[in-house]
Amino acid sequence: MSQGQLYHASDSTIVIMGASGDLTARKLLPALFALWKEGFLADNVPIVGVARREKSDEAFREEMEQNILEHCRIKPDSRQEWNNFARRLFYHVTDLTDSDDYLLLKKRLEDIEFEFNMPSNRMYYMAIAPSLFLPVVESLHTAGLIPDRDSDETIRVVIEKPFGRDLESAQHISQELSRMLTEDQIYRIDHYLGKETVQNILLFRFGNSIFEPLLNRNHVDHVQITVAESQGIEGGRGAYYDKSGALRDVLQNHVLQLLCLLGMEPPALFRAEAIRDEKLKVLQAMAPGHPTDLSKWAVAGQFSEGEVDGEHVPGYRQEDRVPPNSTRETFVAMEVKIDNWRWAGVPFYLRTGKRMPERVTEIAIQFKLPPLHLFGTVECEGDICDLVGARPNTLVFRIQPKEAISLVFSTKRPGMQYQIQPVRMEFAYDEAFDQGLPEAYERLLLDVLRGDSTLFTRSDELEAAWQFIDPVLKKFDDPASEPEFYKPGTWGPEGSNKLLARNGHRWRVPGSEHNRAQSGEGKSLK
Ligand code: BG6
Repeated sequence: MSQGQLYHASDSTIVIMGASGDLTARKLLPALFALWKEGFLADNVPIVGVARREKSDEAFREEMEQNILEHCRIKPDSRQEWNNFARRLFYHVTDLTDSDDYLLLKKRLEDIEFEFNMPSNRMYYMAIAPSLFLPVVESLHTAGLIPDRDSDETIRVVIEKPFGRDLESAQHISQELSRMLTEDQIYRIDHYLGKETVQNILLFRFGNSIFEPLLNRNHVDHVQITVAESQGIEGGRGAYYDKSGALRDVLQNHVLQLLCLLGMEPPALFRAEAIRDEKLKVLQAMAPGHPTDLSKWAVAGQFSEGEVDGEHVPGYRQEDRVPPNSTRETFVAMEVKIDNWRWAGVPFYLRTGKRMPERVTEIAIQFKLPPLHLFGTVECEGDICDLVGARPNTLVFRIQPKEAISLVFSTKRPGMQYQIQPVRMEFAYDEAFDQGLPEAYERLLLDVLRGDSTLFTRSDELEAAWQFIDPVLKKFDDPASEPEFYKPGTWGPEGSNKLLARNGHRWRVPGSEHNRAQSGEGKSLK
């Protein structure tokens, strides 16, 4: 039995609105091919690309073959296998802004479904600019491509972030969508939730009994979440990014989702609604570290020009399609608190940025030091005091790359004295499993086809996230508030370090072996 037979995706035509873009080429088609190849996608499921550019089915198939060869983790074994897959690929030319074109699209979809002996169940994937979401859904609805709610046909609509640019616009989008779709027909993608290591946070917490009792204010000193990227603003994204910034682009969604999974209570059932209810409660309990003065708990940074590995790299203001006087943040750090029974008083430090030393996403939970310092001596440097030789126990989820979970603890260094040596115990995915990790989009697309919305953001979650972020957005969007500059290849501006230093904390150096060795974390235990 192939893996795929364990899970049945419903029979549904996959319609990609905006199929000539990067998302379709790099993520969607490679993910669909991998699903098909592993037996998760039924053989009668057609995939229809819809876009304005003139193209034949044949040309679309050829393009997608190249994309799959380039971007898919699994390749076709033979010409015959590719042809088997490619026969379900179709392309339909549509001007997405012309409502008459949707009637022709309807006819085409019905013809294809007839040929494949498929019911008119459809998944519409909005691989389009956010400004087109509502008009396209409206046109689909008017043309009868999204039937009335009492219809037997299963219709699911997938949308990509950004879901609005603040609380008000997000509420507007949700209200408009709810005129045409029920909440359970809407799948808001946050690709972080499709990452294998992110899904494992819940399993690690609630599938083991030894860690969960420690994850609360009695034992945890603070938590750090880092989503760092080494790249700048690539692929002509300058215009989008300059309207968005690090706060909207990554913190409001990916970072807050990580925070919710780590902070939430165990759900009563492992079901979408139960899990999303618990995540929502985390967002509702979130409070800034220092409510009155925003500058004390949120720091904005922008990378300047400089050198990385001996090569000159442009500053943010010199990036393609970025205004030369932009005050947009490419880095954000924040201290937040989750004001509930479990976490009251525990700082959660969040940061994300571009042009940092390496691409790494991790969550580090730092536990309290033992109550008595029987070993080692305390030394202070400025505000920061350290027990020489000792490191607090730290549990680290390395989300990417080199996916792993590690635990740092102290041991006695062999010898005639009691000297502390921090060591690390690590579970690394590539050592424990001989199969590669599936791509986030594979899991997410399959879940849409199965009608499982666990890994998608519900509208109330989304609003709660915007509600929390809104005051910070207002400050960052104010052109009078300048971000602090940081050099490329560093972990952000000085203000980010000061944010932690005022609580006697400092950022852990995340990432590679080399970086961690510098942080004094100690050797790995093998
Ligand atoms: C996207 C952001 O949502 O996430 C990008 O728009 C960012 O700016 C990307 O680079 C990071 O995703 P990943 O999976 O590479 O960590």
